[in-house]
Amino acid sequence: MNQKGFDKDQAKLVSKPLFAWIAFSNRCNLNCTHCQRPLLKRQGVLIPTDMSWEVFGKLESDVFPYLKRIQFGGNNFGEQLFAANWDRFFERISQFGLKITVVTNGTLLSSERIKRMVDAGVEFNFSLEGITAKSFETVRGYPFDKFLDIVRETCREKNRKAEKGSKVNLGFTASYDNIGEILDLLRMADQLGVDRVTIPHFIPWEESQRQQSLAVHKELANQIFRKAEQLGRELNLKVDLPRPFRTDNPQENADLPEEKSSKEIIPCYHPWQSVSINEKGDVTPCCAAGEILGNLARLNFAQIWGGFKYKKLRETVNSERPLRFCQNCPLRGIEVGSSESIALWNDEDILLAGIGHGRKVSSPVLYKVRNNISKTRWGRRLLPHVIEFYRRYWAFTAMYLWDNGLAVLQRTQLRLARFKNGFHP
Ligand SMILES: C[S@@+](CC[C@H](N)C(=O)[O-])C[C@H]1O[C@@H](n2cnc3c(N)ncnc32)[C@H](O)[C@@H]1O
Ligand code: SF4
Repeated sequence: MNQKGFDKDQAKLVSKPLFAWIAFSNRCNLNCTHCQRPLLKRQGVLIPTDMSWEVFGKLESDVFPYLKRIQFGGNNFGEQLFAANWDRFFERISQFGLKITVVTNGTLLSSERIKRMVDAGVEFNFSLEGITAKSFETVRGYPFDKFLDIVRETCREKNRKAEKGSKVNLGFTASYDNIGEILDLLRMADQLGVDRVTIPHFIPWEESQRQQSLAVHKELANQIFRKAEQLGRELNLKVDLPRPFRTDNPQENADLPEEKSSKEIIPCYHPWQSVSINEKGDVTPCCAAGEILGNLARLNFAQIWGGFKYKKLRETVNSERPLRFCQNCPLRGIEVGSSESIALWNDEDILLAGIGHGRKVSSPVLYKVRNNISKTRWGRRLLPHVIEFYRRYWAFTAMYLWDNGLAVLQRTQLRLARFKNGFHP
C-alpha cells in the first residue's frame, strides 16, 4: 500500500478485508490450566455463546466473498470445533475456495471431519503444551495418546491427498515447566511428518503464574531457542521461535538487531486489509486489539467497515498519535497471514501485560474490584453483561475522548510553560 493509503481522505477508502480471524464459539470442551478461559469463567465475565445464523448470513454475504484467507481460533478463548453449527458452517464456507486455517485442541476431530477438512485444503494448527502423557495431561486434561492418534490420522490423510494442499502444524505454548521438552518436541514432529512447529510464549494471566513466563528466565530461554533453531535446520523442519530476549549479558545481545526507537512508526495495514469477528458478531480490527468497532447483529458489515470508529482508526493508526490500543502494538509491520504472532515477541511489557506489567493503570486493582463484585449473586449475574455493554458501546468512544482530552491538556501545559518562560510564538 502506498503512502496515499494513510491520507485522511483515504480513511473512507473502498478496500475490503482480505484476511479474517473468525470465532464461531467461545465455549470449550477442555479446561486447560494455562488458558485464560477458565479464569474468565471463574471471574464470571464469560457469556458462553455460539455464532447465530443471522450473523453467519452477514459474513456469507458481506465478508467471505472478499477474503483470501480465514483463520478460525486465536481471536478468542474457545474451541471452534465445539460450535453447535461447525459442520454446517464449514460446509458453506468451503464453497468460497478460501485458504482456511484452524487453531484447535484437536480432540473433536472425528475421522469424518478430518476427511472433509483435508478435502477443503485446511491448515490444521494443533495446540499442545507437553509431549509426555504427564506434561500434556496436566495442562489439557485429555489423554495424550488419543491426541497423538488424531494428529497421526490427520497427517496420514493430508499425505494421502497431497494435491489438496492441506498442512498439519503443531503450536507448543512454551513456559518454564515445559521448555525442557522443546528439542524432543521437534524430534517428535519430524517423526509424525508435520509441516511446521510454532513455539509461542506462554502469557500469564494471574500473578501466581509469573514464574512460568520465559520473560523471567531469559538466558535459559535464549539458550534453548538457539538449540531448537539448530535442530530445526538439521531436521529440515520449519520452526517458528520467539525472538531472543535482550539479557544482562552484552555478549548475548551482540547478535540481536538494534532495538527500535520508540519514535519510529512501523506502519500497520490491518485496518485496510484484515478484520477479526467473534461469535457474537463483534468486529475488532485484528486479533491483538479487543476494541469493538461494531456488532454484526445490529449493523451490516459495510456500515461498520466504513463507520466512524474505523474512520478514526484509519486516520490515526499511522500518525504520530495513534489510538491508545494501537501504540506499541506487536502486529505492526506484520503481513496479513504471516506466521508471526504476538506471542513470538520478546517484549517483556507485552508478555507480562496480563499481570499488569508496563501498564499505567494497575490491573490487579481492577481485578480485585471485579472479583469482589462477582462474589455477590447479583454481581455475578450482571457483571458479564455490564462489561459487554461497556465494551460494545462505550469503550471506544471513552478512549477516544480521553486520548484527545489528554492531548489538549498536554498542548495547554506546553503553551503555559512557554508563556511563563517568556516565549511568545
Ligand atoms: C485460546 S486457544 C483457542 C483454540 C483452541 N481451543 C486450542 O486450544 O488450540 C488458542 C491458542 O492459545 C494458546 N493459549 C491459551 N492460553 C494461553 C496463554 N496463557 N498464553 C499463551 N498462549 C495461550 C493455546 O494453547 C492455543 O494454542
Ligand atoms: S482447549 Fe483451547 S480454548 Fe479450550 S481451555 Fe484449552 S487452550 Fe483454552
